[in-house]
Amino acid sequence: MKNDSMEKIVSLAKRRGFVFQSSEIYGGLNGCWDYGPLGVELLNNVKQAWWRTMTYREDIEGLDASILMHPKVWEASGHIENFTDPMIDCKECKARFRADQIEESDCGSRAYKGRKASKCFAEGKFTEARKFNLMFKTFIGAIESEDSVIYLRPETAQGIFVNYNNVRESTRQKLPFGIAQIGKAFRNEINTKNFLFRTREFEQMEMQYFVKPGDDEKWYEYWKEQRLNWYQSLGMKKESLNFVPHPADKLAHYAKAAVDIEFDFPFGWGEIEGIHNRSDFDLSQHTKFSGKKLDYFDEQTKERFIPFVIETSAGASRGLMAFLCNAFDEDEAPTADGKSEKRTVLRFHPKLAPLKCAVFPLVNKDGLQDVAKKITDDLQSSFKVFYDESGAVGRRYRRQDECGTPYCVTVDYDTLKDNTVTIRDRDSMKQERINKDNVKQYILGKLF
Ligand code: GAP
Repeated sequence: MKNDSMEKIVSLAKRRGFVFQSSEIYGGLNGCWDYGPLGVELLNNVKQAWWRTMTYREDIEGLDASILMHPKVWEASGHIENFTDPMIDCKECKARFRADQIEESDCGSRAYKGRKASKCFAEGKFTEARKFNLMFKTFIGAIESEDSVIYLRPETAQGIFVNYNNVRESTRQKLPFGIAQIGKAFRNEINTKNFLFRTREFEQMEMQYFVKPGDDEKWYEYWKEQRLNWYQSLGMKKESLNFVPHPADKLAHYAKAAVDIEFDFPFGWGEIEGIHNRSDFDLSQHTKFSGKKLDYFDEQTKERFIPFVIETSAGASRGLMAFLCNAFDEDEAPTADGKSEKRTVLRFHPKLAPLKCAVFPLVNKDGLQDVAKKITDDLQSSFKVFYDESGAVGRRYRRQDECGTPYCVTVDYDTLKDNTVTIRDRDSMKQERINKDNVKQYILGKLF
């Protein structure tokens, strides 16, 4: 199932309104995606789960820095010089590739369908590799000149570094402490691929943890464990997650040590988050380029030093895709005539599920709709609910299974007599009767 499940997931994502191709009616824009009604809920839930875990603690503060930053930021951070990928072109079919991904790429020509790009490479069809900077350039103000060039940020991290003093002074935090941020990042990737995995516009959830030099290795281990646990706490299985350390010769220009958390996607293992020991690289560079002191005075030891940084850098959109793949399943569900049928189900953790509950009247008469609508109104003051009165109840269940809705509440004739409703669990498909006034508490109990 694994091989063809990616196709099914992409198709389900469109059919149910999770993800659409950007500017689809114009033929689409490569590497950009739009989040539909269920997708935006899922994305918000992923971000909210991260925000709660990462900032609802005493040692981490939140931030929302602007996407456009002073161009010197990117000189200081090393992005202008180093944020490049090696690009090569096929002289025959003109397809463009990242030289370091040639092994996993297919030839760009229809005439050679199914052929590996490495074969063309071996036949000498490619140009020499040249450096391609991944930052999107634009201009600030009315005049388009070299002096007005600025960049769309390729990572959110630099907004945190340039605000290090502002946050520390305004909150009176002492080391170790962190600053967390969620926001858009942009990279002009040479090749986009695998749905939301490598896109040109995406969202990151990053946290920089400032520590005393010498304590960095301890905190690096701590954050590795915390971050792995976060994915597991939201329903990812241990065997679907892996740590992959970066070898010394592959480290990013800022990193002293780095490890990826990888997820087992249907197309293979892929990074969903990086944990980096960035040493004092960033604060030292910004001190040098801005002329402002970004050091720390330790009142206990009377020492002055530039803090080291442990970074946790997760993709929100790539994470969404991992949670979507993790939730996707196919099994059998009983039908009204005692047989069974194939069902597609998204087994999201209730915290991530876009809709927490669906409410159905069993039939559309005798006042059942009014009761069901009243329950819906009452529930949606606390979470996202869907009211559905169309088609057989079995069909309605199937639709909610595909949306990943963990609970369905049905109002029937017994409700009119004793105030109870059935509540059906998405995963076990078991139903129980509870008082309609207890539904909200029942569901809220599963969300926190
Ligand atoms: N500040 C460090 C940093 O940006 P990174 O490993 O380049 O590190 C961190 O990116 C995370 O951002 C990745 O693990 C991935 O989840 C996400 N990410 C990076 N490039 C992406 C892209 N082109 N499309 C979608 N997500 C991306």
